This record gives sequence, C-alpha cells and structure tokens, in this order.
Amino acid sequence: MQEIKLLKDADVKGKRVLVRVDFNEPVKDGVVADDVRIKAVLPTIAYLREHGAASIILLTHLARPTSPQDPSGDLTPIRTALGALIDMQGIELHENLRFNPGEESNDPEFAKELAALGDVYVNDAFAASHREHASIVGVPKLLPSYAGLLMGREIAGLTPALTPPPGALAIIGGAKFETKLHLIQKLLSQYSELLLGGALGNDIIKARGLPFGASIVSHEPVPIDVAINDRLMPPMDAVVMSGPGAEREAIIVDIRAEERIIDIGPATSTLWAEKIAAAPFVLWNGPMGIYEEGYVDGTNVLAEALSKSPARAVVGGGDTIAALTKHSFDAQKVFVSTGGGAMLDFLAHGTLPGLEALRN
Ligand code: 3PG
Repeated sequence: MQEIKLLKDADVKGKRVLVRVDFNEPVKDGVVADDVRIKAVLPTIAYLREHGAASIILLTHLARPTSPQDPSGDLTPIRTALGALIDMQGIELHENLRFNPGEESNDPEFAKELAALGDVYVNDAFAASHREHASIVGVPKLLPSYAGLLMGREIAGLTPALTPPPGALAIIGGAKFETKLHLIQKLLSQYSELLLGGALGNDIIKARGLPFGASIVSHEPVPIDVAINDRLMPPMDAVVMSGPGAEREAIIVDIRAEERIIDIGPATSTLWAEKIAAAPFVLWNGPMGIYEEGYVDGTNVLAEALSKSPARAVVGGGDTIAALTKHSFDAQKVFVSTGGGAMLDFLAHGTLPGLEALRN
C-alpha cells in the first residue's frame, strides 16, 4: 500500500497551496465561540509561509447551510477570528464549501473547480476527513497531495487508542447507537470496560429490559450480544425530567413512563470517576447528559476526574473538550483530538476516507 505523503515531503516554494481545513467552529451571535480548530491549523500555515508558498488558499465548510443565503454558513465570524490570530497577507479563505451542493455529493466537476485554484493540496482537516466530500477525497485525485501537520498530530495522538493496555477504560456518550455499533463492538473487544452515557446509555437500558420512560432512544434495536456484554456499563442512576423544572434523581429501575433521562446520576458519576482515577488508559468521546440543554453535571464530574487522574488519555468531541478544558490537565498525558465523528470513525476503522485519498 502506498504511504501517505507528509507535508515535509512537499515542494511548496512559489506554489499556490490549497489547504483543506476544518473551521466548523461553534458561532454564537456572529462570534466564534471556540477557536480551537482554527488555532490547531496555524502551525501548517506557518510552515507553508516559511517554505515559500506563493499563496495559501484555505478551504473549509461551516455548519450545514441550506443555501448560500443561509446565515449559519456565513464565514465572516471565521474570517474575523482567523484575522485576529494571524496576518492574512497571502492567505485567502475560500467561501463556505457547502454553499456548493457538489461538495457533499463529491461532484468531480466541483473537485476540478477547486483543484484549479492551487498547484498543491494539503489536507489538514482531520475533523472532516470521515466525509467523502469533493474537497476531501476528490481534489487529492487531481493535485500532488499531502497530510498537514495537524493531520499528522492527530494520527500520532489517536493511534495509541487502537491498541490500549490491559485495564483500559472507554467512555462514549452522545446519540445514534446504530452509527456507533461497529465502534462499540470493536471497543468491547479491546477495552476492559466500556461506559456508555447519553442516549447510547438509554439504548442499553432499554435493551436490558429496564424502564427508560420517555428518554431519547434509537429506532434500531441493539444486538443482543452487545446488550448483554458484561464489559458494557450503562448508568445505574440518572437525573430525569418529566416537564419544565420537574427534575429528580432516580435509580434506573425507578424511572417513570413520563420521565426522560437528561444526565447520568450522582451514584454513576461517582463510580465512573473512580474508574477513571484507577485506569491506566482512558478513551473518552461524547457527553453524558443532554449537554446542549445545559445538563452538564455528569460530564463535568468525569472531566474533573480525568484532569486529576494519572491515566494516559485520548479525548475528543466538542462538548467533552469544553468540559475538560475547564480544568487544568497534563497535555503530555491527555491527547485532545479536534475530531468528533472523525475521531470515532478513525477508532472504528483505523483510517478515514480523507487519509486514504492521500495515498494516491
Ligand atoms: C465536525 O464538526 O464533526 C466536522 O466538521 C464535520 O461536520 P459535519 O458533521 O457537518 O459533516
């Protein structure tokens, strides 16, 4: 199999360099609320400048706009945040790729249009490299293509999670069990324990015949061998809500039909924090509660435990990182990925479409 070419092997002197980045950052009231993905690409930009690139054309998507008029896709906040971090001389931020439907449909014509803008292509968009979109898998067919410095950092940081040591602990939150089934099966074969929070935990509670009330669950049933796997642990208690302001803590067997689980409960967070403190290695992606609605306590307890734990760790997903970065932690021990879905797909398959495209 052909090796992935790295930026250090590229001749960029005097060239127009197209860099696919992932600046899909949260924007609130027209302002970038978290610029971690923008900052993560700065070393690649600096490298290209130092090595004499004639110009740098940054390609990104933002959100899932329905048309070029959809304000959610407006790159102005991104341009402002980038401009506050670096001198934009010689750098162009191309319009939101998703304004063109050819991006998501991986239209070869759109890939051609993009490729015509540069002489060399660099993929530094780890967080979007699970998408088979024109800018990720189409353009590298047309130009000499390389993995950027962030891409290299992500692969090096995530690879230890593919071969965890004995006693390793995995924690996965969020929703859509069916899209994570392959990963969950893989983790169950490699990790000593897998803790499932968020809607994924609800699916296991349901599959084990326990009451789940009106909680969010997937439509697809969980395969029985997964549901009964004793390495897999859903919460044993939860914060539940039956209506606005009507919240209580309940052990799982006591959840009523009208109640929905909004977070893991205190007994669960205490037990899981102890497991984090004792594990040699922790992999964590995804919140434990409905984070976007403000149910952040369970996630925060685990984040604090991880920040104090001697464990080596790999962490990803926007909400998980937001919780972790409220605490000071040892960046030598904890690798923080810029990827959410891309991190999960990389762990499930050991590669991503965007990486494979760089082997051409
Ligand atoms: C992400 O934030 O996970 C990536 O930018 C991909 O975004 P998408 O889920 O809208 O494709």
